[in-house]
Amino acid sequence: MPGDVLFEPLVFRNLTVKNRIIRSSISGRFDNYDGSGNQARVNWELKFARGGVGAIITSFVPVHLRGRILPNYATIDRDERIPFWREVANAVHEYDCRFIIQLSHGGRQRDIPGIEYPKGLSSTDKPDPLHGFECERMTGEQIQETVKAFAAGARRAREAGADGVELHGSNGYLITQFLSSAINDRHDEYGGKLENRARFVLEIVREIRKEVGDDFHLQMKISTTEYNNALLPWEEEGNKLGDSVRVCQWLEQAGVDAIHVSSGSSFPHPRNPAGDVNTEEMAKTYDTMISSGERAYRNYVAFRTWPLNKFFEKQWLDARGDVIEGINLPDARAVKQAVRVPVLCTGGFQTASVIRQAISGGSCDAVTVARPLIANHDLVQLFAAGHDRPPKPCSYCNLCLFSVLENPLGCYDERRFTSRDEMIAEIMTVFQPAPFGQTEKASAHGGEQ
Ligand SMILES: Cc1cc2nc3c(=O)[nH]c(=O)nc-3n(C[C@H](O)[C@H](O)[C@H](O)COP(=O)(O)O)c2cc1C
Ligand code: SF4
Repeated sequence: MPGDVLFEPLVFRNLTVKNRIIRSSISGRFDNYDGSGNQARVNWELKFARGGVGAIITSFVPVHLRGRILPNYATIDRDERIPFWREVANAVHEYDCRFIIQLSHGGRQRDIPGIEYPKGLSSTDKPDPLHGFECERMTGEQIQETVKAFAAGARRAREAGADGVELHGSNGYLITQFLSSAINDRHDEYGGKLENRARFVLEIVREIRKEVGDDFHLQMKISTTEYNNALLPWEEEGNKLGDSVRVCQWLEQAGVDAIHVSSGSSFPHPRNPAGDVNTEEMAKTYDTMISSGERAYRNYVAFRTWPLNKFFEKQWLDARGDVIEGINLPDARAVKQAVRVPVLCTGGFQTASVIRQAISGGSCDAVTVARPLIANHDLVQLFAAGHDRPPKPCSYCNLCLFSVLENPLGCYDERRFTSRDEMIAEIMTVFQPAPFGQTEKASAHGGEQ
């Protein structure tokens, strides 16, 4: 281990992380309908902290109830949420793991809106082309309210003892809806040329700095290439790498401490998370979305109808390409050459030698990992023990992703377990142990802190 770049600390301007493997956001419906949190989320995050990652970036945490994408996601939209996030941060910190809250707003991209706000907000009033989620074009006043909601979310994260925040500026959510040349069709100062499309996120960054000061870690996840026409060839391509590199430089100037490189103008997207596609499995949970979007019923029928489903699967795989591990590295490298702040890269990482090469070769400073850590929570410990790849690696089957609308988050690839029962038992561990209000270590000591 000595001399191994994987285990060298990563020093950001306001934060040091013990190694170069960071848990990327993985959302699951663990919490209460109203956005209050519960013990399952604490248990979930502890799995990764215990497994040795340097930091955890939370799942999608809405800064406003209208910005949530599914009910049962813990929010950070009001001060009453602070004690819950403090609970999660404290639990994670017990394992010398840093805790970064992903400040998010879904805009028009909302799988299940819930009862409070049937329509989403966006830079546009056009429904998204794939599912047909309807939305309202944001007014200047709504933009300012949302900028303030992000800043208030950052303040709450800081008060909760989190080590930093990440702006969810990728994967098709509200910030992408402003940045994207394919989605943003405004004619005011928030639309048109790149400077205008970037105005919303830059205002968020400046407002956050006003609210939390200059010494709190702030990073931005961005889809550097949008591939907006990956599934619907008649759509525009959206932002390309050169546009995003420019945005990253502006973000750095405005006070962002790190850039996290992702891709795709929607979520999921053939390139994110890059893996297999299985329409039969998708149809099992997509039915919950039928009433959410104008085109969702059409999609559901297509997923269940041969040969439409096979056509969709082929198109998905063609758009994905052959590379999974390190799929975003070329983009990360271009960003790294253009900014001075550290660059994180997401996408398929689970091989120590590949990660080492990505870092020492100058493509990024650290990697973020989602599915391979669902499959092997102890990935970092396996690397430390000398494994180049886990004995039972993540197969990128994406069954975890297709399950998540309805079922608990976990690894659903039965081939990785000795039986289906064993797989289900592992998935259910997120509901154990410890009653709400106790950290894992505290409960092991009879409730004493
Ligand atoms: C079930 C699931 C939920 C996810 N939720 C989020 C999320 O809330 N926010 C986010 O930025 N990315 C989310 N992602 C994307 C991951 O953070 C990651 O960027 C992507 O899966 C590629 O990394 P991987 O190949 O290591 O899985 C999610 C991925 C999966 C599989
Ligand atoms: S279900 Fe398991 S093996 Fe398949 S992508 Fe998810 S974590 Fe990997």
